[in-house]
Amino acid sequence: MFTLAHLSDPHLAPLPQPTARELAGKRLLGYLNWLRSRKTIHSRDVLDAIVADMLSHAPDHIAVGGDLVNISLPKEFIAAHAWLETLGTPDQVSVVPGNHDAYVNVKMRDGLGRWKPYMRTHAGRSKKLAAGPSGFPTVRRFGDIALIGLSSAMPTPPFAAWGSLDTGQLDALKRILNNLGEEDQFRIVLIHHPPLIGLTKWRRALREAPQLQEVLVSMGAELVLYGHNHDHTMNVLPGRSGNLHIVGVPSASSCQEKPGRLARYNLFRIWHEHGRWRCEMTGRGLHTAEGQVSEIEQRMLIG
Ligand SMILES: [Fe+2]
Repeated sequence: MFTLAHLSDPHLAPLPQPTARELAGKRLLGYLNWLRSRKTIHSRDVLDAIVADMLSHAPDHIAVGGDLVNISLPKEFIAAHAWLETLGTPDQVSVVPGNHDAYVNVKMRDGLGRWKPYMRTHAGRSKKLAAGPSGFPTVRRFGDIALIGLSSAMPTPPFAAWGSLDTGQLDALKRILNNLGEEDQFRIVLIHHPPLIGLTKWRRALREAPQLQEVLVSMGAELVLYGHNHDHTMNVLPGRSGNLHIVGVPSASSCQEKPGRLARYNLFRIWHEHGRWRCEMTGRGLHTAEGQVSEIEQRMLIG
């Protein structure tokens, strides 16, 4: 049995003090938004409790779905790298970036480049699984289970939070899903933005959701995991080789007391039995903003 933990959108607090120069442009709006509301929603104590609970279950691998930082300050990327190290080594943890991790353009070495070891392909030199020109999708294999990471993060104008997948990434995803499907691998796709049409408002949506949905349905995948909306959502779509289970997870640091929006992570236990894949999901998180982390639900997704 293989256990994957999925958490997303930690929006690490506290936010380091920005300089006046760093606040030029879109960052100023993000900073004011943090002071006005986000600061009260994203709690480091809540995140620490979620992470401690998750680590106590000793998952085989941890998938982090982006938005580790808030306004892409270089100091935030350093703090986020230190936080990733508390989850595990780059072999034990995979990351895909979110829109807040590309809030504005930041030099690679001061920004996403700091997390590079957590965003590397571990699938050898096989051309069948090679990434597109952007370095994504990444592929990590765990026996006959594969985790495919997509990058939908891009800087956007103020008040927009959309994402995008370039053609190279979509073409590579198609090839990778097809090749892994032919090997009867259990395919897990990890992305920040909701992968289906209509799961969020247009100014927050993935621009290529129609194309991605088409690739997922036509090539098949077993699980698709995302964040971004900060709420718990489940969808099922018929795909080429069976149903696709598409699961959105709330922010791992949220103390927002609205249905489906309190901090949560999901554990996916995956195994092969009598020639068929099985997958059970356990959601763990807060039931109240002041409460302890405990089980929210358990259900069989596949099998
Ligand atoms: Fe987020």
